[in-house]
Amino acid sequence: MNMKGIILSGGKATRLRPCTKITSKQLLPVYNKPMIYYPLKTLVEAGIKEILIIVAPECAGDYLNLLGSGKEFGVKLTYEIQDEPKGLAEAFIIGENFIDEDNVAMILGDNIFEDNLAEDIKSFKKGAKVFAKKVSDPERFGVVKFNDKMKAIKIVEKPKKYLSDYALTGLYIFDNRVVEAAKNVKPSSRGELEITDLHNWYLKKKELDVAMVNGVWIDAGTFDSLLEAGNMVKRKKLYEKFESDIE
Ligand code: DAU
Repeated sequence: MNMKGIILSGGKATRLRPCTKITSKQLLPVYNKPMIYYPLKTLVEAGIKEILIIVAPECAGDYLNLLGSGKEFGVKLTYEIQDEPKGLAEAFIIGENFIDEDNVAMILGDNIFEDNLAEDIKSFKKGAKVFAKKVSDPERFGVVKFNDKMKAIKIVEKPKKYLSDYALTGLYIFDNRVVEAAKNVKPSSRGELEITDLHNWYLKKKELDVAMVNGVWIDAGTFDSLLEAGNMVKRKKLYEKFESDIE
C-alpha cells in the first residue's frame, strides 16, 4: 500500500501576533529555514512522494511562492485550503480525494523532530500509529496514558486533571479507514474535530500503536518554543545532512 503525506499548516496562530499578521506561523524562520521545511523533511526522508499541504486562505500564495511544485525536494506537492481552523481531524475530509485508496502520514506544520522517523513510517501496515514523548507540561497537548506493560489505555486532549507525562506529538499515521472515521467525528466543546477522537476510534479496535520519540521534539507554536526550536536546529545542524541528500 502506498503512503501519502499531509502537512497541516493552517490556523490563525494568534499566539504569535504580530509576526503572524502578515503570514502564516509555519513560514516563520526557525534558524535559517522556514518552519515548514522541518516537517517536510520528516516526510521526504520517509520516501513519501506525494504531499498535500493544507493552508489557510489568506496565506496560500506565500506557500506556493515558497515551495512551488515540490521539485526541489524530489516530491509532488498539492495544496488545499482550509477555510476555518475547524480541527486537525478535518484534514482527512479535506484530503479525501488526495488520499484516495492509500494510507496517510500527517504531520503538523509547526512540529519539529530531531529523529529521522523514516523506518517508523515505512514499516507501517495497518491501523494507526502515533508518537509519544515525555514532557514537563502535558496539559498543553493530547496525552496518552499507558498501563504497566506500556500499552496505551487512554487518550485525552489537553486533560484538565493530570493523566500522564506522555504527550502525543504531531505526527500521525493512519490506514485508509481514517477518511470515513473523520467524517463521523463530532465537534468537541471547543468546536473542533479532534484528532484524539480518531486515536480513540483505533484504540477501541486495539489497532493503535504508540511509538516513542527518542530525540528532541518541539511544537514551535509559542515564542519561547520557536526560539528553542531555532537554537536546537542550529546546535544539532538538523537540516544540513538532508540538504546534501536532496541536492
Ligand atoms: O503539537 C502536538 C499537539 O498538536 C497534540 O499533542 C494535540 O493532540 C493536538 O491537538 C495539537 O495541539 P495544539 O494545541 O498544538 O493544536 P493547535 O490548535 O495549535 O494546532 C496545531 C497545528 O495545526 C497548528 O500549526 C495549526 C494547525 N491547525 C490547527 C487547527 C485546529 C490547522 O491547520 N487547522 C486547524 O483546524
